Amino acid sequence: MEDRAINFPTEQTTTILTTAPEETALEIWGGMPLSGEVKISGAKNSALAIMAGALLCPTDCRLRNIPALVDIARMSQILTAIGAKLTTKGDIIDIDTREIGNREAPYDLVSKLRASFFAIGPLLTRLGAAKVPLPGGCAIGARPVDLHVRGLAALGAEVQIENGVVNARAKGRNGRLKGAKIYLDYPSVGATETIMMAATLAEGETRIENAACEPEVVDLANFCRSLGAKIKGAGSKTIFISGVDRLHSTDYGIIPDRIEAGTFLVAAAITRSPLTLAPVIPEHLTSAIAKLKAIGTKIIAPEPNILQVIPGQLRASDIETLPFPGFPTDLQAQFMALLAVSEGNSLISETVFENRLQHVAELNRMGADIKVKGNHAFIKGVPMLAGAPVMATDLRASAALVIAGLAARDKTVVSGLHHLDRGYENIEAKLRSIGAKIERVRV
Ligand code: EPZ
Repeated sequence: MEDRAINFPTEQTTTILTTAPEETALEIWGGMPLSGEVKISGAKNSALAIMAGALLCPTDCRLRNIPALVDIARMSQILTAIGAKLTTKGDIIDIDTREIGNREAPYDLVSKLRASFFAIGPLLTRLGAAKVPLPGGCAIGARPVDLHVRGLAALGAEVQIENGVVNARAKGRNGRLKGAKIYLDYPSVGATETIMMAATLAEGETRIENAACEPEVVDLANFCRSLGAKIKGAGSKTIFISGVDRLHSTDYGIIPDRIEAGTFLVAAAITRSPLTLAPVIPEHLTSAIAKLKAIGTKIIAPEPNILQVIPGQLRASDIETLPFPGFPTDLQAQFMALLAVSEGNSLISETVFENRLQHVAELNRMGADIKVKGNHAFIKGVPMLAGAPVMATDLRASAALVIAGLAARDKTVVSGLHHLDRGYENIEAKLRSIGAKIERVRV
């Protein structure tokens, strides 16, 4: 495979990658009724873990349905920095890992993408050693990796953290990890994924108890199984991995993004629009669909992998974010925008991250009536929000502000788009195609 530069399918995505994000903002004129069908892209949180999982493959593999996002571009840069050769064509990425070395991913790249830490498990189990900078925290929390590190140590790695770098080395015979029984204090998605990937090439059996059950964990397990890994129980609280000596190439398509789909469901609910979304996997959105129904918006599945919104009046409802299958923390901000204009009093409790209520201040600038006490947001529904200039603070908060702008009176200008562009592919093009009045403007 020729080693070409990474080019993205859409001119706009390239522009996003090259334009200083603080120079652009989204101008949204609210009140437009939306209609039509939205195409849902591949799942960001699957793609990031699976791109790291490609390091387990001794030759090369092909990934399909990869979204064109800043986070994906950054993960591609990190894999390239450690010696992989990537070729991107549309939503397909070919990853050749024949010549990966135990090079350290540069901190300046890792600091921009926490998910780069997913490389530690595959590198350690394949090469016997790995050096990955400790990812910092981010706007929503400290984001420690102690559960990842403890899991690798349980698999027989010697792990030292010095000068902000995690240095791991397999102590086992011929530099190989050894299977173990690991109990996770918290069903961490990332820790489950790190341990599962590291265990695929370890000697013997590994059992992960209190594992995360998110669909992205299942997608990663299915990807690893397509490489020849022996994994059972992904999607349940207990995952079994039988180590193998070597894996092989694969051609794998990732699942659609349930969080992008959930974001568009809320956009339809708040604008009372009968939107159709495809492709989606309804079982990945059970809690969000149940919550929308409680609020007054029905969701039907007229055909497999298609969801349709039946809009209705909006009434208050309470939400507590929990690990899957509980209500997803990644949809909390978006639902807060919806509850801000739902009749009655709602309570949202954010139990997964310690600082994921920063969008409250910006929604209040638009006329919402929300009070925060600890990790609880008390929402008094108002009839309508008013457009205003607002600043996104993190990825899902930016989506919540766009949603609020779609339903608000007058014009909303959302700045801080570097957050939004990390996780939503061409969101303004998708919204414009269903009737929204939205433009990306230079500020
Ligand atoms: C993944 O993050 C997702 N990111 C997040 O999506 C998502 O919000 C989160 O899972 C929960 O579903 C990716 O998959 C790239 P966790 P992750 O480990 O793996 C604590 C988005 O918006 N914890 O399940 O980092 C942690 O501090 C992003 O797309 C430890 O204490 O989430 C948090 O409070 C945001 N020690 C809780 O567990 C650890 O070693 C859940 O974190 C690891 C985690």
